[in-house]
Amino acid sequence: MDLRFTEEQQMMRNMVRNFAKTEIEPFIPRMEAGEFPRELLHKMGELGLMGITVPTEYGGAGMDFVSYISAIHELSKVSAVVGVILSVHTSVGTNPILYFGNEEQKDRYLPKMASGEYLGAFCLTEASSGSDAGSLKTRAVNRGDHYVLNGSKMFITNGGEAEVYIVFASTDSSKGTYGISAFIVDKDAPGLSIGKDEQKMGLHGSRTVELSFDNCRVPVANRLGEEGEGFKIAMANLDVGRIGIAAQALGIAEASLEAATGYAQQRVQFGKPIAEQQGVGFKLADMATAAEAARLLVYRAAQLRAEELPCGKEASMAKLFASQAAVDNSIEAVQIFGGYGYTEEYPVERFFRDAKVTQIYEGTSEIQRIVISKHVLK
Ligand code: CAA
Repeated sequence: MDLRFTEEQQMMRNMVRNFAKTEIEPFIPRMEAGEFPRELLHKMGELGLMGITVPTEYGGAGMDFVSYISAIHELSKVSAVVGVILSVHTSVGTNPILYFGNEEQKDRYLPKMASGEYLGAFCLTEASSGSDAGSLKTRAVNRGDHYVLNGSKMFITNGGEAEVYIVFASTDSSKGTYGISAFIVDKDAPGLSIGKDEQKMGLHGSRTVELSFDNCRVPVANRLGEEGEGFKIAMANLDVGRIGIAAQALGIAEASLEAATGYAQQRVQFGKPIAEQQGVGFKLADMATAAEAARLLVYRAAQLRAEELPCGKEASMAKLFASQAAVDNSIEAVQIFGGYGYTEEYPVERFFRDAKVTQIYEGTSEIQRIVISKHVLK
């Protein structure tokens, strides 16, 4: 397999790198203070980043999946917040409509999502159904030309900011996962309300909220696929979404390595740069190896997806490994920076806080192991 980028992919990477440096980096203090980076998303829409893989006929950039993953990777090296907002918007916000929507739904939503006018969110998790997603309790009852949804969702990334919510609800509780259906719910749907904002350890500036559906009316025309197809839609989109989160984790792992390497080369103790002390040099070697292995897994999964080949196992492996690399590298980066690493003056404490959730959302590391082991045992 050729892991070199094509000229077009390289141009995309350079453009994203430049954007991250000039536009996102200066915005970080505002995000750390809690501001959602809406103005950055508008600019990203103008650059075609909000609809990288959406076909041009629906207003997207019509680029390949590897380009999309490299964009998440490059953005996340500077800001994991912008990385996750784009990943959720694209992989699990827009793709369900692109791959499971009918023509009318695609025409109505995709151009606005690709331009950044509309932001997407994915609503599967509930207070009592996280890893066991199939046990969700939100109900949708068919009332002729519309459904009535009742229930609540939790930990919804982009919630409160998104205009489009992909919502999973049971239309027949006697059928378990086969009774789950998927709906496109507009922000202003009557009966949808935005609940509390979670105060998180990291990813400050990314919104994570509760949603409640109180007799929420959703037109039948907004159901994605057939009744009962919702769980498969959720799982298929998570297969792809997990590559995006793996790329986000890869960005954090590499950023931690780069920061630690730069610091270790200029910080002198005992008469020489600490990078030349074997204890620190070995840490950098392990961090570089973890980042490189994560990179190979992430781009291998992305390449499979780009070729429309099955990638569920590889996506889970990439997420499992890259998220561990992000956590390990960010911890070691803080250690190499010593006391300075524990202060907000340097970015490594942010990397450390942002890394942990990559082992939790879009399926915990334990869920990735379940998915991988099911493939291994097939
Ligand atoms: N693609 C298509 N269909 C799939 C599938 C996939 N990847 N995985 C499962 N299915 C189908 C199965 O084939 C099965 O149908 P058949 O019997 O016809 O074959 C059906 O779905 C049920 O599958 P399982 O019996 O495997 O289902 P399960 O209840 O045991 O759950 C699980 C499997 C993998 C543990 C799943 O519940 C899971 O992925 N849990 C984690 C949930 C998760 O990732 N949540 C993330 C929330 S979103 C988020 O975090 C976004 C964010 O904010 C950043």
